[in-house]
Amino acid sequence: MRLLFLVAALFLSASVTASAQRQSRAAVAPILTGPDARDSQTYARPEIARVTHVALDLNADFAAKRMAGTATLDIQAAAGAQEIILDSKGLEIQAIIGPGGRALPFTIGPEHATRGAPLTVRMGAARRIAIRYRSAPNAEALQWLTPAQTAGGRHPYLLSQGQSILNRSWIPTQDSPGIRQTWEARITAPTPLKVVMSGERLTPNGVAAGPGRRAYRFRMTHPVAPYLIAIAAGDIAFRPLGRRTGVWTEPAMLDRAAAELRDTERMVEAAERLYGPYRWGRYDVIVLPPSFPYGGMENPTLTFLTPTFIAGDRSLVGLVAHELAHSWSGNLVTNATWDDSWLNEGFTSYFENRIMEAVYGRARAAQEASLSWDDMQAALRELGATSPRTRLHDPSDEADGGSSGIVYDKGAIFLRTLERIVGRARFDAWLRSYFDRHAFQPMTSVRFLADLRANLIRGDRALEQRLQLDTWVYQPGLPDNAAQPDPAAFAMVDSAARAFNAGGPASAVPYQDWNWAERVRFIKALPERLPEARLAELDRAFRLSESGNAEVLFVWLRLGIRNRYDAALPATERFLLGMGRRKFVQPLFQALVQQGTWGRPIATRIYERARPGYHPVTTGSVDRIVRGAPAS
Ligand code: BES
Ligand code: ZN
Repeated sequence: MRLLFLVAALFLSASVTASAQRQSRAAVAPILTGPDARDSQTYARPEIARVTHVALDLNADFAAKRMAGTATLDIQAAAGAQEIILDSKGLEIQAIIGPGGRALPFTIGPEHATRGAPLTVRMGAARRIAIRYRSAPNAEALQWLTPAQTAGGRHPYLLSQGQSILNRSWIPTQDSPGIRQTWEARITAPTPLKVVMSGERLTPNGVAAGPGRRAYRFRMTHPVAPYLIAIAAGDIAFRPLGRRTGVWTEPAMLDRAAAELRDTERMVEAAERLYGPYRWGRYDVIVLPPSFPYGGMENPTLTFLTPTFIAGDRSLVGLVAHELAHSWSGNLVTNATWDDSWLNEGFTSYFENRIMEAVYGRARAAQEASLSWDDMQAALRELGATSPRTRLHDPSDEADGGSSGIVYDKGAIFLRTLERIVGRARFDAWLRSYFDRHAFQPMTSVRFLADLRANLIRGDRALEQRLQLDTWVYQPGLPDNAAQPDPAAFAMVDSAARAFNAGGPASAVPYQDWNWAERVRFIKALPERLPEARLAELDRAFRLSESGNAEVLFVWLRLGIRNRYDAALPATERFLLGMGRRKFVQPLFQALVQQGTWGRPIATRIYERARPGYHPVTTGSVDRIVRGAPAS
């Protein structure tokens, strides 16, 4: 409680509507005010004035590539507070209206490259303000796709990506994960597009909203971090998967998506058995067009997914387990600042693996955990084990700065280490109660450690010593108690790789019998440098350049580039033109550019063609590599 700052109750003005009164009675999520919870990425000063509820009324204007309309904010403020500071990026503010329709003065401060600009509103005594605005055509959170960029090819498409600090480019609010807000929205779009958002979908088929447009309404009655407000609009259809699960996607994708997602309801059930009830109502997913810049995004009630997870054999559904797990770690208990993003991603990677074990068995989970161990080791090698960037708590002042090998993999291995030392039953009981204790609240490393000590260690000095908690959270490198991966997980694969690397023929490698994890492990076990003849032998034997599994194709193409293997270039180009997932796109361009006179011209040529199809998240990263400059 010492750390909690409970803002004074909101006084309702005469103009407040019935719906707002309903909202204002919902519990307002507390703000943490300790130094460990200070978010360097926001301009907001929530201890003075904070947003509690956002009501959006916006038109999606596909011709202008703008969201335009009104955001009405409910505010709680310290007694006498006259101003509220919001985050904004590229927003064109037309007017800000207070009670009785009075225009309120506001200023927009200097623009920072990633954080955007503070929008300071002189609200006086007003505790509800309506902002009339429109987003810029190049808003970083939004991607406006042409019909040609969709599977159907006939209609445009809109998708958003809020994490980490992009939503301020289309929603004027306090864009900080520690400032939880309830929200509602009314969005209009041209027919026949359907609109979906990351909240309760109140009008599945929309209602007429003037010539050629329909309006869709949504609400989120739990307070959520604002990066979790998400929208997609397009020619999409829905198919149920289970009692509370279903999939949205373009009609042309529906059969393949539903088949791949067949186990989704079972995953939710497995997750609930592990760490308690799923608290968000429905768990639907939307399979987006291939330009979606991430594998997945855990938008509440509606996970966003890349179509590249569709391999035809459900081999890559660990991604779904991951986004589902965020319904607890991330969406329920949320990192208060991005310096602690390991609390979202490390917990989720651990939980993902537990879901995979529960649904698909120990062998598969052990293999995926072993790949994760390798990714962590690669990150430690790349960064250097003494680099401050290998700390879980990383106060580096960047919103997305952390290496995934640290934040995701070292984070998950930390929790696996705790599990092994205290025993699974005891660890699971603690983790479940942790989610309950902190549901709908922000979390920091400091508070996580305090909870662990109060509820798991309980003064056991010997146990405290064995766990090395502070070393894990605050020191670089890998503590010596780290839970090792199962050496049996890839024993067969590793021996086949050794035989091949000693000069054996590809025909002796039982590649066709292997699952995706074994294939990836094998390709990663090949030497960095391979002669063209050996690459050709592998490609011919296993048809690697034609792989329909994006994870396998990615590691193969990267190996090809590192060896200037021309025969894989057509497949590389096809892959880079066919999807915009940053995790694949960025390292492939990086590898090309590293190949100097051979690779740089290839990178430039492919990027010229591919760039218009990529989301701002992806171009933001690749511009730096290929053009040597930040996005313009
Ligand atoms: N929340 C992340 C995506 C994200 C991370 C967006 C950081 C912005 C900044 C999501 O849950 C995620 O981790 N996606 C991974 C999937 C995964 C299985 C590790 C991805 O996109 O590859
Ligand atoms: Zn994640």
